[in-house]
Amino acid sequence: MTEPETITHDVIIVGAGLAGTWAAMTAAQNGVKDIGVLSKIHPLRSHSGAAQGGIAAALNNVRPVEGTGPRGPLEQIPLGDELVDSWELHMFDTIKGSDWLGDQDAIEIMVKEAPNILYAYEHMGCVFSRTPDGRIAQRRFGGHSAPRANYAADWTGHVLLHTIHEQALRHGVNFYSEWYVLELLIEENICQGIVVMNVLDGSIHTMRAKAVMFATGGYGRAFKITSNAFANTGDGVAMAYRAGVPLMDMEFVQFHPTGIYGHGILMSEACRGEGGYLINSNEERFMERYAPDKMELAPRDLVSRSEQTEIDEGRGVGLDKQGIYLDLRHLGREKILSRLPQVREIAMDFTGRDPIEEPVPIQPTAHYSMGGIPTTADGQVIADAEGTLVTGFFAAGEVSCVSVHGANRLGSNSLLEASVFGQRAGVAIAEFVQGRAELYPLAGNPAERNKQRIQEHLESDGPELVDQISEELKETMTQNCGVFRDETKLERALNVIQALKERLHSARIMDKSLRFNTDLLANLETENLVSFSEVIVSGAIARTESRGAHSRTDYRERDDENWLMHTMAHKDGDDVPKLSYKSVNIDWDRFPPQKRQY
Ligand code: FUM
Repeated sequence: MTEPETITHDVIIVGAGLAGTWAAMTAAQNGVKDIGVLSKIHPLRSHSGAAQGGIAAALNNVRPVEGTGPRGPLEQIPLGDELVDSWELHMFDTIKGSDWLGDQDAIEIMVKEAPNILYAYEHMGCVFSRTPDGRIAQRRFGGHSAPRANYAADWTGHVLLHTIHEQALRHGVNFYSEWYVLELLIEENICQGIVVMNVLDGSIHTMRAKAVMFATGGYGRAFKITSNAFANTGDGVAMAYRAGVPLMDMEFVQFHPTGIYGHGILMSEACRGEGGYLINSNEERFMERYAPDKMELAPRDLVSRSEQTEIDEGRGVGLDKQGIYLDLRHLGREKILSRLPQVREIAMDFTGRDPIEEPVPIQPTAHYSMGGIPTTADGQVIADAEGTLVTGFFAAGEVSCVSVHGANRLGSNSLLEASVFGQRAGVAIAEFVQGRAELYPLAGNPAERNKQRIQEHLESDGPELVDQISEELKETMTQNCGVFRDETKLERALNVIQALKERLHSARIMDKSLRFNTDLLANLETENLVSFSEVIVSGAIARTESRGAHSRTDYRERDDENWLMHTMAHKDGDDVPKLSYKSVNIDWDRFPPQKRQY
């Protein structure tokens, strides 16, 4: 193994998706010269690029054609004509979507800033789709009461990511491609840096910085059926948890209603935004029974539950009847080719069906992590329910919980959140490193410690391969901690996870080399999956109510009296996490909790 080398920057950002890259670019614009951004994959393969359908902002570019009702065709709003949308409406929709668990001060910041972020992208040259008169095109998305998902066909995340990445390069940000973080170093509530492995040669380094930011994305890979990329193994949340940082609201995992049947790959919500139908085996548009007003454009938690109910009651489609049909045929060839070209290709590649000609089988798929590392609206990580800050540690995007999504995120609000709070973290980081920030002395020799840890993994010769363990975890999470949960299933999941933790200690790695050892990476990632899955399940067992995406069949109602609060999970040695609770920031005069109906 190569001799460890210490690498120092003013700022280190882990994760090169929208949140991390916005923070890096903004910190650079605000005068920080020496910024390193690490990614375990190529930065342009970051998962922000997989978001398809849109980024929310009340731009007021389009409205339903008069007299055609809330689901009728859209037209551009003549300049100077009456507006249909506002940040207040966006705020209310987001709060209602969150089932009142979102912090309303953070939501207000996000929706007010949304138009500015959109125009910032536009000024950077982002190739949005356009209205006939050249404004940014908008479409409907679930749970939003106006068409406010701004889009670039169904490549929205991809074009935003490419745009911001170019700008970060222009501002001199250094990217480390395919470097994997092994440990977050926090001592006495002060972040000292990270320990990393260069995947190319297996060398291990300490990285020091005055400020460290995590923007490592979500944790959908803990589930068997997921829209998430292979990289989305929740490394950031797991490392923060091991370093003593609490995790907030981890039990709230979003299941997107339209993942490709059997695979989970995303068929964008834009399919329904453009008018697509959901059909059961009796060819019924069953959403009539569950959300008669919004129909297919109800929020994701409600649509996924409706699909799962149809499936559980025997009206599913596909080989094992675990699917539902997404029917786009009536949209016509031209609309599908111009607005949904990627979705069409995915459907043809993975199901052999062309949505222009045939309905496509889909199913709910683990998609988004509402929970994560608790932060302020400036990306500063919070250490406890009282709001103590972790000095020098920031987080934004899906790894964080600020919390704007509460118990259920509205589609198109994640690209917005990553951009707005990534930018705000960049400003805060610049202020921090140009102020009193310093490099604190390191405790011990963390690089050496991690070198030994890797050696132990490589020498481990137990009876099982790590793949067997990760497959069992994913199957368990999908079966027992999915769209519908109950105590028996959740306890079963917890028992399996605890056994897997033990078995993982002796799991065997086939590849004993150091160069690009994906087998070793899978082992490290599986450690992370197992550790935060225990947090998800523990939070879900404790929360004896149904709220947003956390739906308990043994506690069907929302219970504001006992559960209108955020879960904070602290690591407690090898035991199950210690749970405590934190109040939700609610503006009781403007947006008090209401019954949530669509
Ligand atoms: O369905 C989609 O296009 C995904 C967007 C999102 O998760 O916000």
